[in-house]
Amino acid sequence: MSFKDEMKAKVEEIEKQIRSFLPGEKGFQKTIFEAMNYSVLAGGKRLRPLLMQESCRLFGREGKEIVPFLAAIEMIHTSSLVHDDLPAMDADEYRRGRKTTWVVYGEDMAILAGDALMIYAFETAARAFRDTDRPDLVGRCIGILAEKTGIYGMIGGQTVDVEMTGKPVPEDKLDFIYRLKTGALLEASMMIGAVLGGATEEQISLMEQVASDVGLAFQIQDDILDVTSTSEVLGKPVGSDEKNEKTTYVTLKGLAEAREKVEFYSRRAAAALESLPVRNEFLEELLLMLMTREK
Ligand code: IPE
Ligand code: IPE
Ligand code: MG
Ligand code: MG
Ligand code: MG
Repeated sequence: MSFKDEMKAKVEEIEKQIRSFLPGEKGFQKTIFEAMNYSVLAGGKRLRPLLMQESCRLFGREGKEIVPFLAAIEMIHTSSLVHDDLPAMDADEYRRGRKTTWVVYGEDMAILAGDALMIYAFETAARAFRDTDRPDLVGRCIGILAEKTGIYGMIGGQTVDVEMTGKPVPEDKLDFIYRLKTGALLEASMMIGAVLGGATEEQISLMEQVASDVGLAFQIQDDILDVTSTSEVLGKPVGSDEKNEKTTYVTLKGLAEAREKVEFYSRRAAAALESLPVRNEFLEELLLMLMTREK
């Protein structure tokens, strides 16, 4: 099977697993269920669950407890997008090829849907306790998920991102923002995969570093695509950063240097991964593919 076909098959399987945890749309609070499902089922590359699964495969231990975590990380990521698009934040009206959640359900419901997805992710992850012989690993992963989502992770990064809007940002601060707002959830994905896959402590921190570099490269590429791509291809608006007066790698360094950075961090991540005594060729290829991704 080609890499592309393999990827498609894996994403389809993940899609099914995510779907199996989503709430049914009935009851007096049905609007929140609809808004949650609307945002999650709009699609998206499902990169975080994919990285989690492949990081687990890399270390070889197989267990069913990863399945709720695959869904949980995508719910948290989606919640971050729902809030990121709100008028008070990036004020974007298009996401994953559809109107954003706030445009369809209103700002009130989008705030609640983002909150709901974030906490429902933990409800989902906690289900991993039901069917495991390693509750210690499951507990650790829930901790990682919380830490990388919260004030030392994605939310911390979004805080500085919002605060620095319209202001010049030095490179070290921009790196900090990117490693947190985007890198942290990729770190959670690869670390949880590693923990559940049976990696050693040293290997878990190596995966954290790999993911941090992948995250930085991923966000720089996101900045690049915001100026070079089209909304048809991305499924979200282009020019969002300029509209919001964001300092990005592109405004700070120019396109050519931004591209070099993507390559530098991606290759450093791939090299670190290769230093492990175990291998997962699909994961290696995936990291390199991200370097030139077009959406
Ligand atoms: C978009 O993430 C937000 C960033 C962190 C740059 P993705 O590019 O992974 O978005 P989806 O999940 O495919 O929609
Ligand atoms: C957002 O960065 C990262 C998140 C934590 C959601 P952006 O604001 O650049 O993401 P997009 O371009 O809207 O997807
Ligand atoms: Mg943003
Ligand atoms: Mg945005
Ligand atoms: Mg962006």
